[in-house]
Amino acid sequence: MTASNPELPTYQRMLDSEEPMAVKSISSPYSGVLGWIDARLPIPRLIDREYLKFRVPRNLNYFWSFGGILMISLAILIITGISLGIHYKPSEAEAFASVERIMRDVNFGWLIRYMHMNAASFFFIAVYIHIFRGLYFGSYKHPRELLWIIGIVIFFMMMATAFLGYTLPWGQMSFWGATVITNLFSAIPVVGDAIVTWLWGGYSVGDQTLNRFYVFHWVIAFGIVAMVLLHVTALHITGSNNPAGIEPKKESETLTFNPFMTTKDLVGAVVFFTLFAGVLFFAPNYLGHPDNYIPANPLVTPTHIVPEWYFLPFYAILRAIPDKLMGVLAMVASIGLLAALPWLDRSPIRSCVFRPVWKWLTLAFVVDFFVLMWVGAMPAEGVYVWIARAGTLYWFAYLLILAPLVGIYERPKRLPRDIHEYEEMKARGEIRFLPFPLLPRRSRKASGSTHPQPAE
Ligand code: HEM
Repeated sequence: MTASNPELPTYQRMLDSEEPMAVKSISSPYSGVLGWIDARLPIPRLIDREYLKFRVPRNLNYFWSFGGILMISLAILIITGISLGIHYKPSEAEAFASVERIMRDVNFGWLIRYMHMNAASFFFIAVYIHIFRGLYFGSYKHPRELLWIIGIVIFFMMMATAFLGYTLPWGQMSFWGATVITNLFSAIPVVGDAIVTWLWGGYSVGDQTLNRFYVFHWVIAFGIVAMVLLHVTALHITGSNNPAGIEPKKESETLTFNPFMTTKDLVGAVVFFTLFAGVLFFAPNYLGHPDNYIPANPLVTPTHIVPEWYFLPFYAILRAIPDKLMGVLAMVASIGLLAALPWLDRSPIRSCVFRPVWKWLTLAFVVDFFVLMWVGAMPAEGVYVWIARAGTLYWFAYLLILAPLVGIYERPKRLPRDIHEYEEMKARGEIRFLPFPLLPRRSRKASGSTHPQPAE
């Protein structure tokens, strides 16, 4: 070997040098093809570290299975969506007929379409449970604020994707739903009308609108996938919260994700997707609206224009306020304000299990959500308007007034020292995570605690 020459460019010096300038080890804990790939692109190592060996609190309940269920639902939506996209025609003249062709002529087209439609509904069922889990157990609090905010962004994106997707079959509800919702932008002062024309690509909802909605439906759907990657990355920085709302300090308070959570999540997923299959095979149109099997007709307005069930609570808030602009702002704020909850809620305690007042207010918030959903499906007249107003008032009072005040004045219950003590308190019946049993109470022996039970 020649001695290194300082005049030579760096790469040449590297080649000539007896000692390589930078020693990069190309090695992997695995052997064979997996090891070869892992040494060069350490994704297998990442999966092992971040998923299989990742440690989670040992007391996670089935509410923590919904993140995984959401991922499976998203995968079903993307796969069935691509399959539908292969046959669908995004034009005013062909859209309705192309969907009917998928249902009748394409091999298993009916299955793919019903799966896509119902997976969208079940995606929302799962996300609402996921969000309320976060609210109840205080998962939005420090240090998971950004994880929560990413979740809210995902939720907005889900709503956009679902709305755009619903216009694609070009039935009566597709057309009139698109007309009503796009018209909301006209409430924006000065530029509102211009925005609506720009969204439509013309002076009414039509061929151009449908074509671009098809593009946006795809783009935002894949945007959700990207945001979910960020969501899970942020989760793996902080680790999972748990029903006790206290951070595990010792390894004995945690379990590895695999096999403990993979098996538990699998049980949750089997139950969830059995229900999904039940609706899919026995009542595939139950969650939809029959008017959407009538081709879009710009000259005939349906008697009641109602959005899909998952939008109803927010539709109720929109209609509860007589002023259009204020209604639109209230509807957006009802979700947007959730992003500020980590700062609005002043309590240092996370879990409702230890918050005697906030627990009831949060459960009332869940009831309020259902009341708004029901009233959103009713005509906007008479007593329904007043119920919608009361529901809207509670929604905002919960976030803007009760969260800060209760956070300051509430006297929480004594927190357990660690997760083991939490499990013991639960086994002794001193605490329960809901104020009422969801399922019949299990015997103490089967409580799952591996710790010796204290004497009675
Ligand atoms: C496509 C939609 C979503 C997917 C695929 C998803 C996925 C996940 C997964 C896999 C987890 C970990 C498992 C679990 O804790 O359940 C998780 C946790 C979490 N997600 Fe989501 N999520 C979605 C939407 C949302 C939304 C809309 C929010 C809130 C507005 C949200 C807030 C959270 C929070 C706060 C956690 C941490 C929970 C804890 O550690 O206690 N996520 N998510």
